[in-house]
Amino acid sequence: MLLWIVSFIFSHQDSFSRAQEKQPYKSSNLPKQETNHPAISTSASCSGRGCHGGSEPVTGQIVQQNEFSSWLAHDKHANAYQALLSDRAKTMAKNLGITEAHKDIRCLACHTTPQIAREQAKVDSPLDLGVGCESCHGSASSKWLGIHTTEAWKNSPIKEKKALYENEGMIYLGNPVVQTQVCVGCHVGAPENTTTGIPARDANHDIMAAGHPRLTFESLSYQANMPPHWNTKKYSSNSNRDLEIWVAGQIAGLSATMELSSHRAQLAINNSGAWPEFAESSCISCHADFQQPSWRGNKNYYSGRKPGSLPFDSWTGVLLPEALAISGQDKQMTALYSDFLKSRNSFLTSPKQAKAASDILASQLQKIQKELIVNGINPPKEWRKLLLDQLARRDLETASWNESTQIALALSLISSKANEQANLQNLWETLAFPSGYESPKDYKPSSRILQEFIQKLKTNK
Ligand code: HEC
Ligand code: HEC
Ligand code: HEC
Ligand code: HEC
Repeated sequence: MLLWIVSFIFSHQDSFSRAQEKQPYKSSNLPKQETNHPAISTSASCSGRGCHGGSEPVTGQIVQQNEFSSWLAHDKHANAYQALLSDRAKTMAKNLGITEAHKDIRCLACHTTPQIAREQAKVDSPLDLGVGCESCHGSASSKWLGIHTTEAWKNSPIKEKKALYENEGMIYLGNPVVQTQVCVGCHVGAPENTTTGIPARDANHDIMAAGHPRLTFESLSYQANMPPHWNTKKYSSNSNRDLEIWVAGQIAGLSATMELSSHRAQLAINNSGAWPEFAESSCISCHADFQQPSWRGNKNYYSGRKPGSLPFDSWTGVLLPEALAISGQDKQMTALYSDFLKSRNSFLTSPKQAKAASDILASQLQKIQKELIVNGINPPKEWRKLLLDQLARRDLETASWNESTQIALALSLISSKANEQANLQNLWETLAFPSGYESPKDYKPSSRILQEFIQKLKTNK
């Protein structure tokens, strides 16, 4: 269901069906690769038949040993480097005044295994296959490559395993917070990381205006849209797994936005970045069709800010109150965030003020994430009611596309019955991008559909 939803909304997301048509893994299909790299081992080193390159999943064990083959055949990440050689990327490069996108660190930071982006920028042939295994699982060569194949590693109980991961530098993706933190590094962006050698990952407005698709990461739908190369039965006894991924993604997404925003403000302070950075503002506030009457004419649309001021884009922060309520975290954060939004809805905020405000939020959100990593998310039994009550309190009359879409995605968490799914479908029709568009043409808030649906879910048992 989620797969279908996501493809329906984001018109460029037809990855799954397209990927399915590709040929299964054969060694002759692999592009030529240079090996022996200091920062990573490369995905090819995981591809042995007895390791992760089997053609069929081995049943009855957690690690199914066909991860490489399944990733290569079905996962868009395997194509991320190739995307830089596409016509779209060539047009973007021309618009940006760069010779080759596949040698530009800005692009490579997200379109290859990021630990090798700098080295990749110096050579023409790919050093790894796209966004490879170590982009998400952590660099293997420095530590865990050898030890993770031993019987001792495989047989250690889950508690000890977590410690092993930590000591050996392997990222424990089983933890929903850790997992979504990894995704947002590229799907939202991140400042430079001097420990891992990863350059800044910043899809700013220059890159958007050159023709890049807008980044609208939402953990639940993106995880559902990524063909699983892991044994999903692992979670069959945890009916809250989807919810945990959703909560973690909401918090990690906003945290990444704040860290990136701080980085951008610092660039502006150093006179090496644009200010305000347009990619932080609501895209459709500038890229809107003029209409009369306009839904922005609603008397509440500008409440709390001046007409013509630039609203900070809230894609990743929209459902912060809901995520905090479900994870039992301090609701003070909501007030802090709404003060932040107010301060950023003005052209007058200096980069210095903006950076200070982002830094405070980022550090609070990091604190919350640390706590959730250690203690788990532990949603209360009545989380459905909590979520719906919180959503019902919103004034949806002037809901932006971001707000409506985030709410619709959250409602998909709790819509399983046939009539609920039919409601959901009505909702998607008001939000979907028309064919040929990568934005919500003629969007109008559909507060009635949203409110009625929320009420219906509240009364359904
Ligand atoms: C912050 C990380 C980031 C940066 C920087 C970045 N990209 Fe991307 N790019 C992505 C992600 C993530 C997607 C997939 C978007 C989605 O579907 O949600 C993508 C998608 C694309 C696509 C569309 C691919 C397709 O299959 O349709 C192209 C082309 C592209 N990027 C080229 C570039 C170029 C060229 C640059 C440098 C000028 C660049 N990107 C910089 C993360 C990034
Ligand atoms: C875009 C991120 C990403 C990339 C790239 C990636 N993985 Fe994964 N991998 C995941 C996630 C997420 C999981 C699920 C973790 C969980 O829920 O326990 C996973 C799980 C696994 C597991 C199962 C681990 C377990 O304990 O259940 C193996 C094995 C694995 N990946 C191997 C690989 C290999 C080999 C590659 C490269 C061919 C690769 N992965 C590429 C994200 C990624
Ligand atoms: C190193 C950067 C990086 C990381 C980390 C990463 N991604 Fe991606 N992801 C990309 C890029 C780049 C693309 C676009 C690839 C293309 O279209 O060629 C992409 C594409 C996708 C797509 C396909 C979107 C579409 O348009 O069809 C999904 C789904 C996705 N990623 C989910 C995830 C999830 C879930 C995680 C975390 C477990 C994750 N990604 C981690 C860079 C990354
Ligand atoms: C403050 C106003 C403003 C905001 C906010 C803004 N843009 Fe732009 N954008 C512009 C201007 C100005 C241009 C240049 C238009 C021209 O040259 O005709 C532009 C150009 C573009 C273009 C290329 C022209 C086109 O229509 O294809 C794209 C794509 C784009 N922006 C995407 C985005 C995205 C995505 C966002 C949100 C993340 C965004 N913009 C936010 C002002 C803005």
